[in-house]
Amino acid sequence: MGSVASRSRRSVLAVPGSNPRFIEKARGLEVDAFFLDLEDAVAPLAKEAARETVVAALKEGGWGGKVRTVRVNDLSTPWTYRDVITVVEGAGAELDCLVLPKVTGPDHVRWLDTLLTQIEAATGLEPGRIGIEAQIEDARGLVNVDAIAAASPRLESLVYGPADFMASINMKTLVVGEQPPGYDVGDAYHYVLMRILMAARAHGLQAIDGPYLQIRDVDAFARSAARSAALGFDGKWVLHPLQVEAANAAYSPSQEDYDHAERILAAYEHATTVERRGAVMLGEEMLDEASRKMALVVAGKGRAAGM
Ligand code: GLV
Ligand code: MG
Repeated sequence: MGSVASRSRRSVLAVPGSNPRFIEKARGLEVDAFFLDLEDAVAPLAKEAARETVVAALKEGGWGGKVRTVRVNDLSTPWTYRDVITVVEGAGAELDCLVLPKVTGPDHVRWLDTLLTQIEAATGLEPGRIGIEAQIEDARGLVNVDAIAAASPRLESLVYGPADFMASINMKTLVVGEQPPGYDVGDAYHYVLMRILMAARAHGLQAIDGPYLQIRDVDAFARSAARSAALGFDGKWVLHPLQVEAANAAYSPSQEDYDHAERILAAYEHATTVERRGAVMLGEEMLDEASRKMALVVAGKGRAAGM
């Protein structure tokens, strides 16, 4: 088991792989990560040409420090293997991860791991350089999520796919990310989010929330992001420049919490090393080793965000 993957993914921009104008715009956005999509944002007749567009966009560069990923088609289609081969042979040195959608079991991840291993060996890429992000998008994926999370050392994150998920379980709603009308006894997504988060954390992976489709309603996006951020999720997909700032804020600690976390770490470090005590007071607050761990999570996210 590794540690939670260290690349920042507070905001993960979805970019249709068939649209050079959107790809160009994406370069200038302040997102932590992006994926060039070959799956659901690309029409079947445009899929083949989109592969070449994606390879050219990666090779051209200009992505700054963003995590560079491509979403291939899922394994029930005739496109997946050719997506992987074309993109990784064509631009593997400029690619950090592949996103595999609609993962229903560990065999899907192992298939991709094996194919990547062969392509890396054949093209002289560093073994293991291409990571995998697995989308959990239906009931089968969710009940198998532990085995999926354990399926490959290449895995960096589990990604919740709310639109496909809601469709697959017959949820009675059309608004992705909002509570289904008629369900007024809590958060209808709590179980799904927690299940994905537990599997991710148990295997040292990041947990990424999916898209919010009402792109002009930034307040609603921020509320949706705040819910998964509060549970511990690391980031969320963004579909539009309007959502970027809200995502980066939601998955970073507040300045107040960050400062508090650094004070806890300093006080506890002093107590354990200089005073040789395992518990110490900081103002009215009692600190022990568990407090240090909690503070480290918040401080770690704040440091990664450059606070
Ligand atoms: C994303 O792929 C979703 O289905 O929500
Ligand atoms: Mg989907």
